[in-house]
Amino acid sequence: DLDLHPSKRWMPLITDKKTIKDLANAFVPSGKLVEMVDKALPFLVETLPYPFGDELRGVAAASGLPLGNLFHGRNLDFGLFMGWDMKNRSWIVAEQLKPLVVNVDFRRNNQTVFKSTTFAGYIGMLTGIKPNVFTLTMNERFSLDGGYIGILEWILGQRKGMWMSFLTRSVLENATSYEVAKTRLAQTELLAPAYFILGGNQTGQGCIITRSRLLSLDILEIDLKLGRWYVLETNYDHWKAPLFLDDRRTPGMTCMNKTTQTNITLKTMYSVLSTKPVLNKLTTYTTLMDVSTGNLESYIRDCPNPCMPW
Ligand SMILES: *[C@@H]1O[C@H](CO)[C@@H](O)[C@H](O)[C@H]1NC(C)=O
Ligand SMILES: *[C@@H]1O[C@H](CO)[C@@H](O)[C@H](O)[C@H]1NC(C)=O
Ligand SMILES: *[C@@H]1O[C@H](CO)[C@@H](O)[C@H](O)[C@H]1NC(C)=O
Ligand SMILES: *[C@@H]1O[C@H](CO)[C@@H](O)[C@H](O)[C@H]1NC(C)=O
Ligand SMILES: *[C@@H]1O[C@H](CO)[C@@H](O)[C@H](O)[C@H]1NC(C)=O
Repeated sequence: DLDLHPSKRWMPLITDKKTIKDLANAFVPSGKLVEMVDKALPFLVETLPYPFGDELRGVAAASGLPLGNLFHGRNLDFGLFMGWDMKNRSWIVAEQLKPLVVNVDFRRNNQTVFKSTTFAGYIGMLTGIKPNVFTLTMNERFSLDGGYIGILEWILGQRKGMWMSFLTRSVLENATSYEVAKTRLAQTELLAPAYFILGGNQTGQGCIITRSRLLSLDILEIDLKLGRWYVLETNYDHWKAPLFLDDRRTPGMTCMNKTTQTNITLKTMYSVLSTKPVLNKLTTYTTLMDVSTGNLESYIRDCPNPCMPW
């Protein structure tokens, strides 16, 4: 409820999702993390723009965790290759995140402003829809991890990922059209490179914005005249080959091409997103969005063996 004070908005959800603590313990069972973050974070929260500081305080209060509890536990250098559970053949952190997946309906005056799939406690947005206006997702650029690591960076207190998803949140909340959203996503200075994938409510409104920190490097748009009825982004610049170890693009495009434009629906899109290695052991959720109905649905995923780790 966006009409509530920022510090109150997340309380019922976080109270309901106490398993956030398990995630903290998965990283640093010693409790040292809590100690460090207790000292460092209150200061950082003071520097956040409205309403994020107050929202984060509210999350911390309701979860019983200090702000940014996980800051110390996550070392970027370990990245993707940290925490593989040999017995279960799964990424410990991906497994810990799954119970936190929620769909949130952001309301003002009891009217939906936008909806999002997120992790309880994560106040930025990586996946969202403004019903009847646009849909928006963000992917990490220059990383193997499909964006999941960014969430952990945030939980661990690395603010660059958090700031990035503040932009998407702000765009979902405030942009009134596809064009306005596109301009803001293309032109706002960022703290790290990213891909924004934006869909609109008119034929041909769909694009991948490839961003450097300062500039929009490229905008690839749907172009029916060229036969480009979809755009597809994993974590590589579309004009370059994906990393050979991590080619989810070719299988994804093969599926899309086989599906054909005529037969694309939420159901067939779900099939594409369920094809290995598009679906892999890092996949926590699949979200499907339909701008015209305002529908956003999400599924917590499991990739049965045999399955690629990424
Ligand atoms: C492995 O999976 C089982 C069943 O899902 C679960 O009960 C167990 O806690 C998992 N083990 C670890 C170390 O996560
Ligand atoms: C807000 O909307 C929901 C569903 O649309 C409705 O059930 C609820 O009664 C409304 N609340 C108020 C305070 O109007
Ligand atoms: C598409 O978005 C524009 C800009 O917000 C809006 O004016 C228009 O009503 C929307 N069209 C449909 C079909 O919802
Ligand atoms: C899919 O179709 C597009 C458009 O015809 C084509 O450019 C692309 O190479 C195809 N990709 C695969 C993997 O089949
Ligand atoms: C598209 O769907 C129709 C009706 O279900 C089916 O007959 C047709 O084979 C499908 N086309 C492709 C390319 O899958």
